[in-house]
Amino acid sequence: MLSWDEFDKEDGAEAAASSTTTNAHLADMSLDKLDQAGGAAAVEARAIAADDSAAVARAKAALDQLDIAEGLAELEGASARVAVDEKRMINCRADLNQLVPFKYDWAWQKYLDGCANHWMPQEVNMNADIALWKSTDGLTDDERRIVMRNLGFFSTADSLVANNLALAVYRLITNPECRQYILRQAFEEAIHTHAYQYCIESLGMDEGEIFNMYHEIPSVAKKASWGLKYTRAISDPTFNTGTVETDKELLRNLIAYYCVLEGIFFYCGFTQILSMGRRNKMTGVAEQFQYILRDESMHLNFGIDVINQIKIENPHLWDAAMKDEATQMILQGTQLEIEYARDTMPRGVLGMNAAMMEDYLKFIANRRLTQIGLKEEYPGTTNPFPWMSEIMDLKKEKNFFETRVIEYQTGGALSWD
Ligand SMILES: [Fe+2]
Ligand SMILES: [Fe+2]
Repeated sequence: MLSWDEFDKEDGAEAAASSTTTNAHLADMSLDKLDQAGGAAAVEARAIAADDSAAVARAKAALDQLDIAEGLAELEGASARVAVDEKRMINCRADLNQLVPFKYDWAWQKYLDGCANHWMPQEVNMNADIALWKSTDGLTDDERRIVMRNLGFFSTADSLVANNLALAVYRLITNPECRQYILRQAFEEAIHTHAYQYCIESLGMDEGEIFNMYHEIPSVAKKASWGLKYTRAISDPTFNTGTVETDKELLRNLIAYYCVLEGIFFYCGFTQILSMGRRNKMTGVAEQFQYILRDESMHLNFGIDVINQIKIENPHLWDAAMKDEATQMILQGTQLEIEYARDTMPRGVLGMNAAMMEDYLKFIANRRLTQIGLKEEYPGTTNPFPWMSEIMDLKKEKNFFETRVIEYQTGGALSWD
């Protein structure tokens, strides 16, 4: 890691000897004097020189007309330093280019945690998976169906999430530390889509068949179109928040994507693939899914925090009608995921069956409801797959399948060789 102490040492004894006079010189320079000196140097740099080409001269002359206030006028307070109290999750008018001071420390912490968890799909060894997939008796038809369906669903679902973030949500969340996390999340979604593509390519699957399941297989298509419905309104470039109805529309989108897509629609598939890994089958695919699940747990928790913060700052949005609508959205999502479980598991497989998955999904749905302050709709449901909670534990750095661990958080040194 770079430190200024090292930098000073490299300057040697000569620099140390002259430091007293340098410091005295700097102490004598007020900011006004520095500004004047810098301004004069900048003007000198822009003077048109004899050897400047016509194009260079034109570029220098054009900058004489540059108005530094342009663009900033659109934002109230853009010319002022931002105070924490001015920051708000939505409809904020304070300058969004000033990351600090932080208001939502949890958002910045999630950004740091996301970076520390960085991984890439090519680091996972797929050799055993390729051998198993190509062997004639390694997997049952039901197991193959699970791998195909899940790669089909996830390979496009992560693109839906990324598009929703980049084309709709990012613009409407008016807080820079949350935007910083959203940018990190968007990159992670790209890594997830990359991971599915990497699995599909490694296993030599028919790419057209897999990537078109969200059109062609009803249980996959229903989940995709349910999500897309909530992107439509807010991805219109003329859409803006600021009224009760449009603020609620954004809230609906956040509930649809964070609580239902990332919070329910991913869970049947994750459980099935991770169950395969636990049985020492398709361990490369399962390891990819394990890394993805770790990222997704953080996406979900970030989304829940954003939704709850919007509720705190705008309590009028969280009325009886909105609560009912949010409950209905989560119940519809649960129902679609139960249908997906039945379609992907027509018979018992990998120590589980559709009825157990239904219990698990109801258990997950209760969690999602209570996380945003709603009441459980499936009282008394218990978790038939407690090992899933263990895999999801974000503090668990060791790989669940005892394979290689990538420690990005300790490998940050730069080398220019
Ligand atoms: Fe993802
Ligand atoms: Fe995600």
